[in-house]
Amino acid sequence: MRENSTQLRNEEHRIGFVPTMGFLHEGHLSLIRRAREENHTLVVSIFVNPTQFGPDEDFKDYPREMERDSVMCREEGVDIFFAPLTEQMYPDDFRTTVHVSGLTEVLCGRSRVGHFDGVTTVVAKLFSIVRPHKAYFGLKDYQQYRIIFRMTRDLDMDVEIVGMPIIREEDGLAMSSRNTYLSKQERQSALSLNRSLHAAEQMVADGILGAEVIESRVREIIESESHTRIEYAQIVDMDDLCAVRNIDGQALLALAVHVGNARLIDNTVLVSALATQAQK
Ligand code: PAJ
Repeated sequence: MRENSTQLRNEEHRIGFVPTMGFLHEGHLSLIRRAREENHTLVVSIFVNPTQFGPDEDFKDYPREMERDSVMCREEGVDIFFAPLTEQMYPDDFRTTVHVSGLTEVLCGRSRVGHFDGVTTVVAKLFSIVRPHKAYFGLKDYQQYRIIFRMTRDLDMDVEIVGMPIIREEDGLAMSSRNTYLSKQERQSALSLNRSLHAAEQMVADGILGAEVIESRVREIIESESHTRIEYAQIVDMDDLCAVRNIDGQALLALAVHVGNARLIDNTVLVSALATQAQK
């Protein structure tokens, strides 16, 4: 992979990169399609990264469909399908961790201690192997996107980070490889996440801008469904991810909810009327 990318760079080919953990769905494909349009060479990696799973998390059960993924990539015109082995990525004497402070301690970082260190370390490593000009990340994992953006800025990595909108099922559920863990009934309950995001957007449109009152309405909607356990439902600043008290301009409403055995995340950007006016 390194030899390929060095040669491509020497030939002035623009390299686009979509890192994934596989079990591809339309969310991944939206990144792949955009990257296909914007670059000469498109690299997609599939690597279920063990270091970003906690000891009690679903590393073993995480769905894997390498054959199907490689066919999908071929159909999308992917040039290089990069699927390294765990022992190649993490040989026994591996000793390095990339850690971004602050942004990794809030939201998902509270319960998934060490998770984002696993993400930044593997993404930094993938970047130095693939050497992309542009790399594409979904805004469904908004915190991940912000952390990776910060890492590339802080370490002067020569790669442009592109954030891509959340792709949803027809019924509004954000696409995720983990949706396969949901039973029929749990899936029905999971729709309350998207419903609560819409309710919050409506409250803001109606001029309700206090974070606390919006968050408690969101909680109420999700908790009224069976099988749901909220980990967080929080309105935060788009840049530093710190909690905000009032929506002044733009803020992110971020959710993490356990539904049955699945831990689901979702979010939306809340925009107050003042900001909408200013944008016009
Ligand atoms: P994975 O969960 O496979 O996701 C790969 C990329 O697809 C991420 O950038 C994610 O945000 C994006 N994505 C997933 N579901 C999406 C959806 N419904 N709409 C839009 N984009 C979506 O995220 C990871 O893998 C890993 O942490 C990784 C970055 C590969 C590092 O191991």
